[in-house]
Amino acid sequence: MEFSIKSGHPEKQRTACVVVGVYEPRRLSDMAKHIDDQCDGLLSNMLRRGDLEGKIGQTLLLHNVAGTLADRILLVGCGRERELGDTQYQKIIEKAVNTLNEMGAMETVCYLTELNVKGRDIYWRVRHAVEMTANTLYRFDQLKTKKDVTRRPLRKIIFSVTSRRELPLAEKACHEAQAIAAGVKLAKDLANLPPNICTPSYLAERAHNLCHIHKNVSCEILDAEAMQALGMNALLGVARGSNEPAKMIVLNYQGTKKSQPPIVFVGKGITFDSGGISLKPGLDMDQMKFDMCGAATVFGAFTVAAELQLPLNLVCIMPCTENLPSGHALKPGDILTSMSGQTIEILNTDAEGRLILCDALTYAERFKPEAVVDVATLTGACIVALGRQPSGLYGNNPTLINELITAGKNSADRVWDMPLWDEYQDLLDSPFADMANIGGSEGGSITAACFLSRFAKKYHWAHLDIAGTAWYPRSTKRVTKGATGRPVPLLVQYLLDKFHTEPTAVEIDNEE
Ligand code: BES
Ligand code: MN
Ligand code: ZN
Repeated sequence: MEFSIKSGHPEKQRTACVVVGVYEPRRLSDMAKHIDDQCDGLLSNMLRRGDLEGKIGQTLLLHNVAGTLADRILLVGCGRERELGDTQYQKIIEKAVNTLNEMGAMETVCYLTELNVKGRDIYWRVRHAVEMTANTLYRFDQLKTKKDVTRRPLRKIIFSVTSRRELPLAEKACHEAQAIAAGVKLAKDLANLPPNICTPSYLAERAHNLCHIHKNVSCEILDAEAMQALGMNALLGVARGSNEPAKMIVLNYQGTKKSQPPIVFVGKGITFDSGGISLKPGLDMDQMKFDMCGAATVFGAFTVAAELQLPLNLVCIMPCTENLPSGHALKPGDILTSMSGQTIEILNTDAEGRLILCDALTYAERFKPEAVVDVATLTGACIVALGRQPSGLYGNNPTLINELITAGKNSADRVWDMPLWDEYQDLLDSPFADMANIGGSEGGSITAACFLSRFAKKYHWAHLDIAGTAWYPRSTKRVTKGATGRPVPLLVQYLLDKFHTEPTAVEIDNEE
């Protein structure tokens, strides 16, 4: 897909299709009015006759409209103008893009970026239009021998801005959005790959390949022997049941002076989670190939930072292994000594994410980080608590927590702050070791976060439980099921906000 920005009136565009909005009830947007003026009120007449109410999800396609130079005009319903917020805007773009892709106009000039979205500036509107377009057109068909081909797919989309003054900001938005979209696509592709292809070794190879693309990227892969030497027995305990060698992947991007403490992202990379000896039920077990979405998304965010050459230092740590049962596998009752020295009694081998993450969190200490954010499909309980809209957010530093909440709102990749109170810590007590690896049946997402917090005491730390946001399950009513690429947009927004002087978007409190 090719994206670009321009300013100019819709009736003057010589293109396959011009896209303009219509509000409910039957009200033309400013750009639609421009066209209406050129064609003797053709559009307003159609609305009066009831051809289009303007509800979100409605469209009307017109051919050869007099007074315009485009082959077609696509009218897109935008709902009530006063109610147009982030969610509505995304639905409008999604509908427009799907319609354009199916109708055979390969090139289009889209005026929906000029809509008045509550509290959002041109940077935000262009950024999300580009990201949403890429998301809408995403398909994972690498492994299908017969692909669903669109005969004349959408190839080029030009987003419009009202005045030339807005061009620089809109172009910046377009550039950053394309990098983010590429990072999201990478995360989705890795996560959608089957677990027989996407193994820890495969991820290590893909990470290693990044070194050849950017000169300020380096990659280190720790194998079982190296991890043994470091005392990563919690991670190695999980890996014991599998024949695939475990890998700890460490990516390093240096975008500013070496002395600047890095941000560290840690991503859970269980390439398949069967539960181990505490075997999961068979139904939907295939979905546990997505248990490496934490790793896939920090990988995706990493490539965006490198692509945009952000002026910061970033380290990504991806502990990767399978969780399988075997004669060598970890058992309930086993006690492991983690790299931190703390001992862990295993009560359930299906609580494996925290075991690989705790050693990665200890390893992160050596980078003397400014902040550490771990990302993990950690608990089914998080889905029970929050559903599938926000990722669960925990942390030990209020500033970091607020930065992530703000980044979530501005990137439309939201998080919800969860409690990490001392009272919950007691649930992890074990009579035989420093702690148990599970905290009982209640508050499962919280006790998992409590477990991790014990390994993150030496720096500012946040944890994202993405169990509900990382993929669309089979049951969802969507064309594209599978990985969402979340929270790549959130992580990148967090990085962008670190040094953007001008606000990238107006922050408004519209959800509490
Ligand atoms: N990867 C799963 C969590 C998960 C389950 C994410 C379903 C998304 C959908 C994790 O390793 C796990 O199995 N967690 C257990 C923890 C329990 C044993 C304390 C869970 O959530 O059931
Ligand atoms: Mn598990
Ligand atoms: Zn898991």
